[in-house]
Amino acid sequence: MSQLSGPRFVTLPEIREAALRSTPRDAWNFGDGGAETETTLRRNRAHLDRLAIAQNVLVDVREIDLRTSLLGVPLSWPVAVAPMGGLVLFHREGDVEMARGAGQGDTLQWLSGATGWPVEDVAKAGAGPQMFQLYAHGDRGWMGELLARVEASGYRAVALTADVQLYGRRERDILNRFTPREAMKIAPNPRGPDPHYQARLTWGDVEWLMKTTRLPVGIKGLMTVADARRAVEMGVRLVWVSNHGGRQLDHTQSTVDALPPIVDAVAGRAEIVVDGGFNRGTDVVKALARGARVVACGRTMLWGLAADGAAGVARVCEILREELQTTMGLCGRTRIADLTPDLITRVD
Ligand SMILES: Cc1cc2nc3c(=O)[nH]c(=O)nc-3n(C[C@H](O)[C@H](O)[C@H](O)COP(=O)(O)O)c2cc1C
Repeated sequence: MSQLSGPRFVTLPEIREAALRSTPRDAWNFGDGGAETETTLRRNRAHLDRLAIAQNVLVDVREIDLRTSLLGVPLSWPVAVAPMGGLVLFHREGDVEMARGAGQGDTLQWLSGATGWPVEDVAKAGAGPQMFQLYAHGDRGWMGELLARVEASGYRAVALTADVQLYGRRERDILNRFTPREAMKIAPNPRGPDPHYQARLTWGDVEWLMKTTRLPVGIKGLMTVADARRAVEMGVRLVWVSNHGGRQLDHTQSTVDALPPIVDAVAGRAEIVVDGGFNRGTDVVKALARGARVVACGRTMLWGLAADGAAGVARVCEILREELQTTMGLCGRTRIADLTPDLITRVD
């Protein structure tokens, strides 16, 4: 077999490198960067790196089963594409292409509420499960109409992003004089986006959302025990531990460290998604062992899209899945339910 007949990409860092080469500098920084000093961004990663996985041996690991579910939706593996706006800056067909890639990779796609595409078109392009992330970019009338379209298109859940009440100061973009919305040439929505809709978002809006949609409701951007507890007490079904990949509040906790006390407080009353710096199979194992049900990947999927469109996203999924399987086998766990807290130690 000639060397060139293999897959185009063989490791995840190789895909990131290819994305870096093919993406205009301002768009790259928009995707790669975080808020202010980027401490949150680095901390997400640093705190993952200080966790060690126990190496349990002499277990028959010929069959490793990655299947799981989220909110009753069966998933072939516990990883999802995180919702991301601005995908058109990385691929001409943006969210539609991401939907194709997620479908090819048999991976749950969360569509961003900042999408420039009609939700119906993205739903048609996807072959696998899809869920919708909502931004309060307009009044309740506007959100209600959007939610009706989301439901009619077959999305299986909706998560309200709560950590963008104000837009984080992304200093790379500020320095580059780069405004994503302008770069994407998105016409202003006459009933939004209006930053004030987000700034005045409160728990009352979550109640409204739960009354308005028949889909299971989640909140994305929960980082404290108090907020997570309040969410589940209101009947929120999905607690999404996230600091927006370090793009919003700088100097907040890492998500992998915020996770365990939230898992304890939620106590099985809601399902838990986590994101923020989870780029490798080992990271997914750490998240699941600490109690997350699904790990969402943002930039890792974005680099796949930028490097090779849908095929790049599918390849990211394939490699990450292989890493996850290898990691599980090498730590002696063959089912997702076997990934338990005793697998993880903090090493510093
Ligand atoms: C380019 C980009 C755009 C994003 N847009 C959104 C968005 O529209 N809505 C949202 O809830 N989160 C958005 N996020 C945050 C992601 O959903 C996710 O929380 C974060 O990327 C996870 O960290 P990771 O990139 O390290 O995996 C965005 C992230 C990136 C990198």
